[in-house]
Amino acid sequence: MRLGPYELSSNLFLSPLAGYTNLPMRLTLRELGGLGWATTDLVNARSLIERNRIALKLVASAPGDRPLAIQLFGSVPEEMRDAAVICQEMGAQSVDINMGCPVKKVVNIGGGSAMMNELDKTAALVRGMIDAVKIPVTAKMRLGWDDDNLTAPDLARVLEDVGVAAIFVHGRTRAQGFSGTVNLAGIRSVVQAVKNIPVIGNGDVTTPEAAKHMLDETGCAGVSIGRGAFYDPWIFRRTEHLLRTGESTPEPDFNERLRVLRRHFERYLEFYGEEHGARLFRKVAPWYAKRFGPAKPFKTGIITITSRADFEAVVASYLKWRAQFCDDAGNLLEKFAPQPMTASFMLPPGEANALDRLAIPVPKGPVDTW
Ligand SMILES: Cc1cc2nc3c(=O)[nH]c(=O)nc-3n(C[C@H](O)[C@H](O)[C@H](O)COP(=O)(O)O)c2cc1C
Repeated sequence: MRLGPYELSSNLFLSPLAGYTNLPMRLTLRELGGLGWATTDLVNARSLIERNRIALKLVASAPGDRPLAIQLFGSVPEEMRDAAVICQEMGAQSVDINMGCPVKKVVNIGGGSAMMNELDKTAALVRGMIDAVKIPVTAKMRLGWDDDNLTAPDLARVLEDVGVAAIFVHGRTRAQGFSGTVNLAGIRSVVQAVKNIPVIGNGDVTTPEAAKHMLDETGCAGVSIGRGAFYDPWIFRRTEHLLRTGESTPEPDFNERLRVLRRHFERYLEFYGEEHGARLFRKVAPWYAKRFGPAKPFKTGIITITSRADFEAVVASYLKWRAQFCDDAGNLLEKFAPQPMTASFMLPPGEANALDRLAIPVPKGPVDTW
């Protein structure tokens, strides 16, 4: 698919996950294949202008980390414009705007006019950014405030007129938070609202089959995957294969999971330094462990590590412990295998998603806008 001037290697995107989609994670995922485009964690426009140390770490990149969009957050037009210019100077392929629903239903007594004012304001901010840079500007939004205020189609149309190159839409309303089912019809209405630019669907894609289903049902040009890349870092490669050949491929085996876990860990140490990197990795490793089968000692051990030696010691003692759940060839016995994953929008109505219990904690921050 095309995004602005770029021809992408696949129509599969990595969704920004603040605190996770840093350079080590992006490089690890890209190396596994199938990923067409990645976006940084959200970055505060003002912090970037001030060259704040944390903001600079968030936008850090490397030659293998392409194509890359930097996601900006902010509401002051001049700051968003100047931050977009900095992104371009830093070599980003694109700037993405973290954009929540523009409608505050509660203050919407003025009805449509208040809404149009907000849309006008948003359009002016986005226009200022587009005029200031040569790289494409994209926007990421939810479906709207709640089910009675599905404003994403209107917003998408206005943004297309202003010149955004693509729209990312998480198929939930602001009121839904991260619960309930992703609304595929809602994503379809955004696809139908725009004329020429690609719409990329997002939300709860945890399997290649779910990605295909979202593409088929909504007509979206691409799919963006966030938490699903944590459950299965190979999801992009597996999805690309399914879309190209129609064939499903199995999830990787334990040894491959361990190999990639180590690679991800080593990149953390390289990027953040040994002790800080090991500490930060404490919240990453449990995601790999969710598909290990029995993994309690691993999870309790890994949240104490402060060095590479600690990490290796936890892995070694876990491997010994895990042997009791394996056959002679070292493969996990069937009865201990983790349940298959199913996306919320592919479950029969009313059936709970086993993954809800494992839901990734949503950090404090401008969650309203995600
Ligand atoms: C831990 C976490 C951090 C997130 N950080 C961001 C962010 O920085 N910017 C953003 O636009 N969305 C953010 N999101 C929303 C995701 O990009 C995505 O829209 C949402 O998780 C639904 O997709 P998924 O089901 O594939 O994860 C975050 C979500 C989670 C769970």
